[in-house]
Amino acid sequence: MMANVRETKDFLDAKLDGFKPDVALVVGSGLGGITQGVAKPIVIPYTDIPHFPKPTVAGHAGQMIFGELADKKLMVLSGRFHRYEGRSPAEITYPINVVDALGVKVLIVTNAAGGINPQYKPGDLMVIEDHINQMGINPLIGGINGDGGIKFIDMSQAYSPRLREKMDAAAEKSQIPIWRGVYLATTGPSYETPAEIKAFAWIGADAVGMSTVPEVIVARYHNIEVAGVSCITNLAAGISSKKLSHDEVLEVGRAAQGNLAKLLTEFMVSL
Ligand code: HPA
Repeated sequence: MMANVRETKDFLDAKLDGFKPDVALVVGSGLGGITQGVAKPIVIPYTDIPHFPKPTVAGHAGQMIFGELADKKLMVLSGRFHRYEGRSPAEITYPINVVDALGVKVLIVTNAAGGINPQYKPGDLMVIEDHINQMGINPLIGGINGDGGIKFIDMSQAYSPRLREKMDAAAEKSQIPIWRGVYLATTGPSYETPAEIKAFAWIGADAVGMSTVPEVIVARYHNIEVAGVSCITNLAAGISSKKLSHDEVLEVGRAAQGNLAKLLTEFMVSL
């Protein structure tokens, strides 16, 4: 374990008083509603946590929330770090190294995404079956510690088939319809051009966003099982003639987060 990650872990251990999370959840833009259901929460602002990336001027600092959901021990990473903020791949994925250090074996990632698949509508949920990395970065370049210890990790089942089945069952049980599809990540912060979206559809993407892929790569490096859900907040560029806006992305995300919370809670029950 990296020395700084160990210090972060020791700090958190001291705050947690024996609480050991089994599941970690990363909540995406405007999708934090589920955190209201976390029982006996211990809230730790990122700014208090040693070695955690410092907030940018524009960005929200974020916080960790430890507690129980569906009787499972959960840690929530509320607020993530993005490439478009100028973050390094190491900063973006630092929280995942901490998740691993705390002994967590299951990671749930959520994000807001534009719908490329013509069947998708704003407000829909898509369980991520696989991803395409169009960010031009990989957090494992140079070794995760920058120490040259390169690992060529397998990504053929990056999103756990076992957890995807559980997500299907949770969707059925909670009566929340889901799609299953491929998430493609760009760096942003500009949205895509219609020509890019056409190309992304051609290479197999169902949805497009600006996050998640670096975290999933590092989770798989640590052999953490991953489940992912995208909230389709808008139709991608050129799929509809409407202009894209960040405000709309946040607004639709907020409207859909109730369904997402229900789905994930039912999923947690099944773990
Ligand atoms: N493109 C990229 N990222 C996004 C989008 C989009 O259309 N919607 C939400 N995040």
